[in-house]
Amino acid sequence: MVENQRPLKNRGFYVRMRLLNNRKTEKNFYYRYLKWILWFSISFYFFSSFLITRNKPTSSISRTIFSNSKSSRALIEESSTYQIKYPNNNKNNLFFKGMKIYVYDLPSKYNRDWLSNERCETHLFAAEVAIHRALMDSETTTLDPWEADFFFVPVYVSCNFSKVNGFPAIGHARSLMASAINEVSEKFPFWNRSLGSDHVFVASHDFGSCFHTMEDAAMEDGVPDFLKNSIVLQTFGVKYKHPCQDVENVVIPPYISPESVQRTLEKSPLTGHRDIFAFFRGKMEVHPKNISGRFYSKQVRTMIWRKYGNDPRFYLRRHRFAGYQSEIVRSKFCLCPLGWAPWSPRLVESVALGCVPVIIADDIRLPFPSVLPWAEISLTVAENDIDNLGKILEHVAATNLTSIQRNLWDLDVRRALLFNNPMREGDATWQVLVALSKKLDRSHKKSRVNTQ
Ligand SMILES: *[C@@H]1O[C@H](CO)[C@@H](O)[C@H](O)[C@H]1NC(C)=O
Ligand SMILES: *[C@@H]1O[C@H](CO)[C@@H](O)[C@H](O)[C@H]1NC(C)=O
Ligand SMILES: *[C@@H]1O[C@H](CO)[C@@H](O)[C@H](O)[C@H]1NC(C)=O
Ligand SMILES: *[C@@H]1O[C@H](CO)[C@@H](O)[C@H](O)[C@H]1NC(C)=O
Repeated sequence: MVENQRPLKNRGFYVRMRLLNNRKTEKNFYYRYLKWILWFSISFYFFSSFLITRNKPTSSISRTIFSNSKSSRALIEESSTYQIKYPNNNKNNLFFKGMKIYVYDLPSKYNRDWLSNERCETHLFAAEVAIHRALMDSETTTLDPWEADFFFVPVYVSCNFSKVNGFPAIGHARSLMASAINEVSEKFPFWNRSLGSDHVFVASHDFGSCFHTMEDAAMEDGVPDFLKNSIVLQTFGVKYKHPCQDVENVVIPPYISPESVQRTLEKSPLTGHRDIFAFFRGKMEVHPKNISGRFYSKQVRTMIWRKYGNDPRFYLRRHRFAGYQSEIVRSKFCLCPLGWAPWSPRLVESVALGCVPVIIADDIRLPFPSVLPWAEISLTVAENDIDNLGKILEHVAATNLTSIQRNLWDLDVRRALLFNNPMREGDATWQVLVALSKKLDRSHKKSRVNTQ
């Protein structure tokens, strides 16, 4: 508030100056003709300027303008570019080709009941909840299934948190999905009509549509037959053939709360001083365990710890800390090595908080490549190149770090991996809709229209 007083006073002063100048012009004009008009007008202007500068409503309007100018600039920027570029506000036709989605209203045991545990809507796998909610509010959603191109089946499978370690148990995921499909195929004609090819699901945990936390079991079971025709929005994605993406799919980011990112940026601005050179906090096994022939992170994290644990350029921490976002926003480079699966929440937080992601997960398929220029906003280091990691980062810091940061700090980039409620232009749900609108050849409605 104290800061706001100053521009207000300056503005009052500015108004007075302008009135004084006007008065002078008027004076020159009238002087030649009628002196008494001059005297009258001077008195009138003096009196009215006195009224205007003390006018309460004017002051409170300028106060509103000034006090909002800082806090909601991003908001203003977003809404104004939107209005200027697309004045008739018809997002659906412009961006999503008129696509319509029907969201099934399933019994609460498939989704809402799980929200009794509040972690269900905030944890890493909460994209299944976030996308459902954003769609409920979206212009693309229709209440008439007969006019729908796609059918969204909202099943939350990641919220059965283990009482022992808090991790989500997903042993029930396949049967819950199967039961949901049974439900919609009995009650509606749309599943049978297309054998599910226009139906959309979310699989937001480790190995996506394989519904397993361990890769060997996931690969062995593969995508369940009942899902094979459908479209799966999943966090898992690699560039080579893999049984867990043997289905039409869209790679989505893991869920990070946009509010948490917002709070962090309010405390430490994006463009502030970044005193940490390279950051990583998370599980790094000193003595890696051999779990039926597999090692966590393929031992990449262990190698990082061994090689850089004592290197002053690296800020590496093995223990949990709730305030870790404040560390990311202080860092230039954020390491995003694989865990059991190649994807990582660190990628989302690094991008949203403007720390250059260093992706160490060979052949990972990254979300929304048609809008996110990954090569210009991140670095990729091969899993077997950990020995050179320090040298690579030094080289980039000395050559093009600032240009990478400039690309990364673009608002369009930073918002694309976050799921908002309601959806916002350019956010993660928006990108999902763009991706779906490219699969409209699967739409029963569209194919019927085309053959007529
Ligand atoms: C949740 O997981 C536990 C094992 O942690 C299992 O016993 C239980 O049946 C699961 N709940 C449901 C509804 O599938
Ligand atoms: C869809 O097919 C299944 C299996 O053939 C059948 O049980 C179900 O009744 C069908 N649904 C509708 C709405 O006809
Ligand atoms: C890990 O354990 C498996 C048996 O589960 C064994 O075959 C393999 O040689 C072990 N690998 C290493 C590197 O110790
Ligand atoms: C930065 O430099 C690296 C290594 O020289 C190069 O691979 C990368 O494409 C450059 N990135 C940008 C955005 O200039």
